[in-house]
Amino acid sequence: MTINPSAASAGKPQSATGAAPQFVRLTEAHREQVGLTVDGVAITALTGDTVLSAILLHTRRVRDTEFSGEPRAGFCLMGACQDCWVQLEEGTRIRACSTFVKEGMHVLTRPAGAVEA
Ligand code: FES
Repeated sequence: MTINPSAASAGKPQSATGAAPQFVRLTEAHREQVGLTVDGVAITALTGDTVLSAILLHTRRVRDTEFSGEPRAGFCLMGACQDCWVQLEEGTRIRACSTFVKEGMHVLTRPAGAVEA
């Protein structure tokens, strides 16, 4: 997996907002699929993906900062910076970069009732 260098690259997968996702899967696409939802939208990931990878393979943000409301996509990607906290539908907060996807997981990247800009 790699960070997508161009949001406007032709032929790249598009997120629900029309922008190219932050990550592009380059290898290991043979692993078993896992179904989950992110903010109510059904997505698929692969066994062994982190929640952060799953989200950023479909869109460009994982949460909004509490300070300015700007979108964030994680920073360290290894559990150190605290920039990828998301919430499971039942209320548990998780670090998206250090939590593996599970079948049927329901992830919320913003508080319930918040509207995407
Ligand atoms: S991206 Fe740094 S803790 Fe998850």
